[in-house]
Amino acid sequence: MRVLGIESSCDETGVALVDASGAAVPRLLGQALHSQIAMHQAYGGVVPELASRDHIRRVLPLMAEVMVQTGCTPAEVDVVAYTRGPGLAGALLVGAGVACALAASLGKPALGVHHLEGHLLSPFLSADPPEFPFVALLVSGGHTQLMRVEGVGRYELLGESIDDAAGEAFDKSAKLLGLPYPGGPHLARLAEQGDPQAFKLPRPLLHSGDLDFSFAGLKTAVLTQVQKLGDGLHQRAPDLAASTQAAIVEVLLKKSLMALERTGLQRLVVAGGVGANARLREVLDAACRQRGVRVHYPELELCTDNGAMIALAAGMRLQGGLALPERRYSFDVKPRWGLAEAL
Ligand code: KG4
Ligand code: ZN
Repeated sequence: MRVLGIESSCDETGVALVDASGAAVPRLLGQALHSQIAMHQAYGGVVPELASRDHIRRVLPLMAEVMVQTGCTPAEVDVVAYTRGPGLAGALLVGAGVACALAASLGKPALGVHHLEGHLLSPFLSADPPEFPFVALLVSGGHTQLMRVEGVGRYELLGESIDDAAGEAFDKSAKLLGLPYPGGPHLARLAEQGDPQAFKLPRPLLHSGDLDFSFAGLKTAVLTQVQKLGDGLHQRAPDLAASTQAAIVEVLLKKSLMALERTGLQRLVVAGGVGANARLREVLDAACRQRGVRVHYPELELCTDNGAMIALAAGMRLQGGLALPERRYSFDVKPRWGLAEAL
């Protein structure tokens, strides 16, 4: 079964084709991606209307690229999957509209996928795929969640961000430091030249005893330091970046270890854009090695948004027994959508 996946929830247009035949983990046949980062950079963040318009321009050429890459024709696609939510409403509508129109023209079913489920399952496309059950640390731009994952569609939320997510903490702190959008990777790069202990920044909820996260206070603390430094900011920016990254990483590490302890599980899966952070990977790897816990990540290029994870999630759902949807092509999108409600 060939599943085409279309991702358009934010600032990346992604299209991919996977083969989800039999019971084996779906195999990625080809994928194409267009990032809108350059377009939004002038505004310091994603402009939703521009994002939607750009998705319209990109999605069909990207699909054509995937067809050329894989030597497959649209008629050979069995299911068209798309991101139904969460994300920007207009951006989601483009992907959903195109996917349903395409499915209708081919007489094939269309299937809406939860974006976070895509992230969560993305390590299954890596060279070292995980096995169920595992603890998942999901760290995307807008979400920070710890989950107990028993199987496809069997997710128990253990804790989540009650205000800013880790990705937002990276992005907002980076903005305060005068770095370009998207701040996470820029802050991480600057942090390499700084001292992580130079500034004492809060580790919010570190000792709360639960598995929830809160990063809003950290952003305020970074703002206070930026104001204090004034003209001296430029010189101290690497130290402040390194200290900010250290605070975020320490909270993510400690809470992940707590989740492993509480569930008694020996496997950790890290997914979402912040999962690309080298320092986070370094400390998780070291701590898990000590405890005999296996850690799995998606391939670096599949950490951030892409079509492959959407095709994969649809493929794994169908392999797990989800009935193919009826060939009705009305659709809606869900800009706000909890993963638990998607079941
Ligand atoms: O999962 P994702 O691509 O989009 C959402 O679904 O939100 O995650 C994007 C987030 C942004 O906050 C971005 O700054 C962050 O991931 N990010 C990073 C790194 N690469 C991406 N944060 C820290 N270090 C990185 N290397
Ligand atoms: Zn995402």
